Amino acid sequence: MKKSIFTISILLIFLPLPTLSTSKPKPCNKNDEKVLFNIKKSLGNPYHLASWKPDEDCCHWYCVKCNQTTGRIIELTIFSGNISGQIPPQVGDLPYLQTLMFRKLTNLTGKIPPAITKLTHLTSLILSWTNLSGTVPAFLGRLKKLEYLDLSFNDLTGSIPPELATLPNLSELDLSRNKLTGVIPESFGKLPGKFLSLHLSHNRLTGDVPRSLGFKNFSTVDFSRNQLTGDLSMFFGPNKTIHSAYFSRNKFRFNLSELMFPASFQWLDLNHNKIYGSLPGSLTGLSLQYLNVSYNRLCGKIPKGGDLQNFDNTAYFHNRCLCGSPLPACS
Ligand SMILES: *[C@@H]1O[C@H](CO)[C@@H](O)[C@H](O)[C@H]1NC(C)=O
Ligand SMILES: *[C@@H]1O[C@H](CO)[C@@H](O)[C@H](O)[C@H]1NC(C)=O
Ligand SMILES: *[C@@H]1O[C@H](CO)[C@@H](O)[C@H](O)[C@H]1NC(C)=O
Ligand SMILES: *[C@@H]1O[C@H](CO)[C@@H](O)[C@H](O)[C@H]1NC(C)=O
Ligand SMILES: *[C@@H]1O[C@H](CO)[C@@H](O)[C@H](O)[C@H]1NC(C)=O
Ligand SMILES: *[C@@H]1O[C@H](CO)[C@@H](O)[C@H](O)[C@H]1NC(C)=O
Ligand SMILES: *[C@@H]1O[C@H](CO)[C@@H](O)[C@H](O)[C@H]1NC(C)=O
Ligand SMILES: *[C@@H]1O[C@H](CO)[C@@H](O)[C@H](O)[C@H]1NC(C)=O
Ligand SMILES: *[C@@H]1O[C@H](CO)[C@@H](O)[C@H](O)[C@H]1NC(C)=O
Repeated sequence: MKKSIFTISILLIFLPLPTLSTSKPKPCNKNDEKVLFNIKKSLGNPYHLASWKPDEDCCHWYCVKCNQTTGRIIELTIFSGNISGQIPPQVGDLPYLQTLMFRKLTNLTGKIPPAITKLTHLTSLILSWTNLSGTVPAFLGRLKKLEYLDLSFNDLTGSIPPELATLPNLSELDLSRNKLTGVIPESFGKLPGKFLSLHLSHNRLTGDVPRSLGFKNFSTVDFSRNQLTGDLSMFFGPNKTIHSAYFSRNKFRFNLSELMFPASFQWLDLNHNKIYGSLPGSLTGLSLQYLNVSYNRLCGKIPKGGDLQNFDNTAYFHNRCLCGSPLPACS
């Protein structure tokens, strides 16, 4: 008897909890709804946005996300739809937006609209796998909260604006697979964010990689398939944080012999450059996931140990005089 009263009082205490804890989300802000209708109209009322209808609260629409407390739109993510035209400048009128994405939309053309600078809360901007053209605008340097900027796989031309280095919290920058020219800005060595992942591959960048980049802690650097020159040793050293380095198919020319790596280093692709000297013994102390130094001007014996003999000969072939396992023995 006592027990069942106890059970009932337990039930009484805990049963109402679920209803208490789910406070009702605020309905979608009317201004934001109006802006979204303008965006839809501007994109020619595409089928992809068919769920954007007045009789449904706009927080429940496809491709958007609201803050449940405020009912303001905080994410607009348009992905893989049959959408043609340009990025509507009205996106700048969603003042609480934190994430803006237009991705895998090959019929999206035109330039990156300046209206985006009105989005002062933006932390992620992803405009990728589209046919956007024009330059990487310097005005993106005004989006001070930006942490993630991905403009990869587009038709962007011109040079990389040094202003991007003024973004205090930028931690990942991806400008790969465009048609960018010019040099890597000196200012990138002053990027204030922690552990930057920097992707500039498959462009037409030229010039020496600035030595200033050595002042910065990177996690991943991908410069492959450009026409970059010079030395890369500033990225490496026992006290650095880099773990993945992709530098293949450029014109880098430096002596590899004395390079040191951080203990956590995992991935090194240097193929198709003009790198000389020998393979540093420090490579044997690492847990390498990937190594490719083929098509360079390296010489001497491949150090024995670590993971170095786990890669096949194509990781080492086409050098001046590298030898030893997995290549033929040194004579
Ligand atoms: C939603 O808005 C409230 C009030 O401004 C804020 O405290 C909260 O952090 C926001 N949540 C998200 C997920 O942005
Ligand atoms: C792009 O536009 C063309 C011409 O209107 C159309 O045929 C094609 O299906 C569209 N593709 C996509 C993926 O939207
Ligand atoms: C995209 O939309 C256009 C025009 O509405 C249509 O002609 C085309 O077939 C669509 N393409 C795809 C891949 O659905
Ligand atoms: C978009 O890009 C693809 C491949 O880069 C190209 O084949 C296509 O014609 C482009 N479409 C438009 C509408 O520019
Ligand atoms: C950068 O990030 C820090 C830590 O998350 C935060 O306190 C600061 O406000 C951010 N700066 C800007 C400009 O958003
Ligand atoms: C880079 O990271 C190392 C190890 O975490 C740290 O000791 C060093 O101060 C950092 N350097 C810079 C420039 O942030
Ligand atoms: C790396 O850091 C250690 C300990 O902080 C320090 O003694 C050493 O001099 C540093 N080495 C380099 C190459 O900066
Ligand atoms: C590369 O550096 C090593 C060690 O400092 C040196 O012995 C070697 O001669 C250099 N190689 C070339 C080709 O300059
Ligand atoms: C190394 O790169 C070369 C050139 O791209 C390629 O032919 C070879 O298969 C690669 N080897 C490995 C082990 O990745």
